[in-house]
Amino acid sequence: MKIIVCKDYNEVSQKAAAIVIKELILNPKMNIGLATGSSPLGLYKKLIDAYNEGIISFKDVSTFNLDEYVGIARTHPQSYYSFMNENLFKYIDIQEKNVNIPNNDLSKLDELPGEYDKKLLGKQRDIQILGIGKNGHIGFNEPGASLSNETFITKLNEQTRIDNSRFFDSLDEVPKYAITMGIKNIMYAKKIIMIASGKRKAKVINEAVNGPITTEVPASILQLHPELTLIIDEEAASEIKNLDFLNRM
Ligand code: F6R
Repeated sequence: MKIIVCKDYNEVSQKAAAIVIKELILNPKMNIGLATGSSPLGLYKKLIDAYNEGIISFKDVSTFNLDEYVGIARTHPQSYYSFMNENLFKYIDIQEKNVNIPNNDLSKLDELPGEYDKKLLGKQRDIQILGIGKNGHIGFNEPGASLSNETFITKLNEQTRIDNSRFFDSLDEVPKYAITMGIKNIMYAKKIIMIASGKRKAKVINEAVNGPITTEVPASILQLHPELTLIIDEEAASEIKNLDFLNRM
């Protein structure tokens, strides 16, 4: 595990973007796993800047999003489908056929996890971007989710719904269910970059990197990944114990 502590969110975004840009220059056909939420917004802006400057192209890149709400239409402004279009895809030259976001069509809910696993099959992600929930969730693998899960439909934890209500008009409007890659899918990525910032993530970041490996803190499973880089600001890093020791592991 490598932990990069940055002075602020802008530097977090810069460092994450530098890793993705380098990988993309070396491998223009890369597969990248994407997250939504606040954490990767700065990274996406920096990738758009690099695209506008002609440094990178997404023409041959394939993307795989971690998750999507179930119970709101893809066209809803807060769907992760809309999020990706609004915050990245509409500004770059990605081809629609290479964009993969879990389908949330209620009329065939039972088939959706298997359908997404088929898309992921044989498409190992060169880099997987992750955020982390205050309760340690990754993707929407909430505390208690099985390690052997591939894509599945999950009930959202109440804390997660409260945290995400900032994007909706009220808590009632936040979906109760989501479709998400499972831990097994996430761990299959070659490299994982986890981004976090702010004091509210400090406790869970320490639990994730130092605590016991437990499904109660799903991000703690990442300690077992051979190529994990955490890029976090000073506030998010403020409760990490043994930082130097962890960086040598
Ligand atoms: C989103 C996702 C979630 C978020 C997490 C943190 O696709 O997979 O696990 O990464 O909820 O969200 P933010 O970044 O908004 O704090």
